[in-house]
Amino acid sequence: MQSQLEAAVEQAARFTGEGKVAAYIPELAKQDKNRLGASVCLLDGTLLTAGDAHVPFTLQSISKIFSLMVALCDHGQRYVFERVGKEPTGDPFNSIVKLELIKPHKPLNPMINAGAIAVAGMIAGASVEERLARMLRLLRKMTGNPDLSVNEAVYRSEQETANRNRALAYFLKDSGILEGDVEETLDFYFRHCAIETTAAELARLGAVLAADGCDPASGERFIPREVARICKTFMVTCGMYNASGAFAIDVGVPAKSGVAGGIMAAVPNRMGIGVYGPALDDKGNSLAGVKLLETISTEWNLSIF
Ligand code: DON
Repeated sequence: MQSQLEAAVEQAARFTGEGKVAAYIPELAKQDKNRLGASVCLLDGTLLTAGDAHVPFTLQSISKIFSLMVALCDHGQRYVFERVGKEPTGDPFNSIVKLELIKPHKPLNPMINAGAIAVAGMIAGASVEERLARMLRLLRKMTGNPDLSVNEAVYRSEQETANRNRALAYFLKDSGILEGDVEETLDFYFRHCAIETTAAELARLGAVLAADGCDPASGERFIPREVARICKTFMVTCGMYNASGAFAIDVGVPAKSGVAGGIMAAVPNRMGIGVYGPALDDKGNSLAGVKLLETISTEWNLSIF
């Protein structure tokens, strides 16, 4: 498997030049678009890495899975899904258009920005720091990295430029979906998007989901099986935004992407996969990362369908 992973990275690296690094968050534009790395975490804890698997980058939208986990653990399904839907949108991740058209104005799912901002408002805690500390605690346990933390430069860069997310958040406040202070919720949202990780850590996180919420090696339970099941289902239907249908056909595994270039995949009962390739396609997914996942899914027969 190690040599196949290395070959897949080498082969997919030819495509990095065809993508573009995200520039709407200025700090992300500083990433080297030629990077590509991948990691696999098997359910006995074995970790394979190839290419730039230890290069740090920020979770961005991959964080939406973990805030959803915490919100579901804090409040249960009924409360969460009264405020955010379960349906894919077919629209870009930061789209505004359907929020006003659909009544009640609840975001269609927790993987688009509007939905993730609504979920960010649900995380329990007396302050932004406390809410963030709770998320970091969970992520540190799952990755086994006690130093996992926020990249302050990326956080500030988004905080200074996020006019569209502010528009979404204030609309949600006006509609009664978002309770509490809007700027505090946004602050928490920007910080959790800026949590820094690596492809190797994403593989571990994916492996926890693949193992139904448990540490694959020790068996320690981090989240209820039911919460892991809901997260994996959203990864299939909405995890790659308006490319989720094509990804389901071409790769066929639950996965979540972020605009810094990460993709976390969870192959149920088999493995977690982490990918980093900051050059994105026009939907905001890692272009070479998706190619790489197509290759290994075919070679290892990973599709769940
Ligand atoms: O809110 C944003 O726009 C970013 N912090 C995250 C967006 C993102 O990662 C979309 N992913 N492909």
